[in-house]
Amino acid sequence: MTIQFTLNNKAVSVSEELADMPLLWFIRENAGLKGTKFGCGIGQCGACTVHFNGEATRSCLLKIEHLNGAQITTIEGLANTDTLHPVQEAWMQVDVPQCGYCQAGQIMAAASLLQKNPNPDESDIDTHMTNICRCGTYTRIRKAIHLAADKLAKQNFELAKEVS
Ligand code: FES
Ligand code: FES
Repeated sequence: MTIQFTLNNKAVSVSEELADMPLLWFIRENAGLKGTKFGCGIGQCGACTVHFNGEATRSCLLKIEHLNGAQITTIEGLANTDTLHPVQEAWMQVDVPQCGYCQAGQIMAAASLLQKNPNPDESDIDTHMTNICRCGTYTRIRKAIHLAADKLAKQNFELAKEVS
C-alpha cells in the first residue's frame, strides 16, 4: 500500500513504511527540496510552513499518514513557472530578509493569509502571522504583506478587465 498526494503539483507515492515520518523530513530528505527549513521541530517557529490543501501548515507536525489525497505546496512551488508570486515580489521590493532562515515559512504564511483575506488589517496580520523571526524583520514583513495585497488587488482588477 502507498500514500498518495501531490507535492508542488506533481503526484507522489510514498510507501506506508514512511507513514510516521513528518512531512518536513520527507520534503527535505526524500524530495530534496531545501527551501522549507527545520527550526524547532515542535510546531512553534513556523520555519517549516508549507500549504496543506491551501492552508499554512507546520510540516514538522504533519505526518505522511495524514496526506492521502492532499495537495502540498512548498516555497519551490509557490510561483507560477516563470512569474513570482506577488508575495515573493513584495518581499524582494521591501527587502524583507535579514539572515533569511525564517523567510520561506513567512512567505508561505503570508500567501495563505492573502488567499483567505485579500485585504488584511493589522489585527488580521497579528492573528495569522505567528512565525518567529530571530532577526526581527516583523516591520518589513508587515509592509510587504500590505504591498502584496495591493499587487493582488491590481492583478485581480486587470483579470476582471480582460474577462469583461
Ligand atoms: S520547525 Fe516546524 S514549527 Fe518550527
Ligand atoms: S530573517 Fe533571520 S530569522 Fe528571520
